[in-house]
Amino acid sequence: MNFKEELNKKSELINDLLKRYIRSQECPEKILNSSVEYSLMAGGKRIRPILIISTYELFREDIEKTFIFDVAMEMIHTFSLIHDDLPGIDNDDYRRGKLTNHKKFNEATAILAGDSLLNYAYNLVLNDIINNNEIKERKLQALYELSYGTDRMIAGEYVDTEYEGKEILSEYLEYIHKNKTGALIKASVKIGAILAGASQEDIDKLTIYAEKIGLAFQIKDDILSEIGDAKEIGKPVGNDKEREKCTYTTKYGLEKAQQILNEITNEAIEIISEFDNSEFLRELALYIANRNK
Ligand code: IPE
Ligand code: IPE
Ligand code: MG
Ligand code: MG
Repeated sequence: MNFKEELNKKSELINDLLKRYIRSQECPEKILNSSVEYSLMAGGKRIRPILIISTYELFREDIEKTFIFDVAMEMIHTFSLIHDDLPGIDNDDYRRGKLTNHKKFNEATAILAGDSLLNYAYNLVLNDIINNNEIKERKLQALYELSYGTDRMIAGEYVDTEYEGKEILSEYLEYIHKNKTGALIKASVKIGAILAGASQEDIDKLTIYAEKIGLAFQIKDDILSEIGDAKEIGKPVGNDKEREKCTYTTKYGLEKAQQILNEITNEAIEIISEFDNSEFLRELALYIANRNK
């Protein structure tokens, strides 16, 4: 398997799926819809839906059964980014290599674009469940995981803002990271496993893998926010320091943060290696730890 090729193929698939749900008809809220399209199609890595599909593929091949959740997950993630960048939260000017939604449009539009993406995600999943009789029960369970993950992401975002500029205990810092970033990553893996009809034992193991790569993902984000290349990551560097954010690099220093990242990545790889056909998810854990963007 060529990991990079497979990753690109999957992210192209997600882009194609998302395009199906862009609303471009003439209507009074046309600008709102184009601001949604602007952020959604700005070229994210699509890691969360890729995790749904790749976890599903551990068990089954008919990945089209995950499609509506892939779309919904990326919409909710994009909502979280638009709101995270708002002046009242991180006040950032660049995201995904472009001006942030509120800078390109305005604050009212950005708030409502986030709301619109969050609601549209649930609306699409519910429409699918109502009109499609296949694996209804699994889809309902997956929908629960989606909403629970979103609830935890919002909780993490809140605690992140509360601790800006303050000293933080390491448990609280871990709480922020596990929730603001880990929760949607964990939900993605669980959704893939649930839709595929995985056993509870397998779901539990995969959940531990997901918790580890979720925390790793945010530690790497903290590192990139300090020593990344702004062009490459498509968002500002040095902004965490400026806003006195509590991060793994400010709490532990770069070297120790990198060491923690390596340790949990190895633990994740060990767990996922228990599964047959898990090469892609193994490589994905490494990609998360080694990425430049
Ligand atoms: C950025 O997420 C925000 C975090 C939760 C760390 P990603 O790094 O997945 O952002 P995109 O989707 O690729 O832009
Ligand atoms: C983002 O956290 C988490 C969510 C958007 C839920 P950060 O604020 O640390 O991420 P970036 O660096 O802006 O992407
Ligand atoms: Mg933030
Ligand atoms: Mg931010």
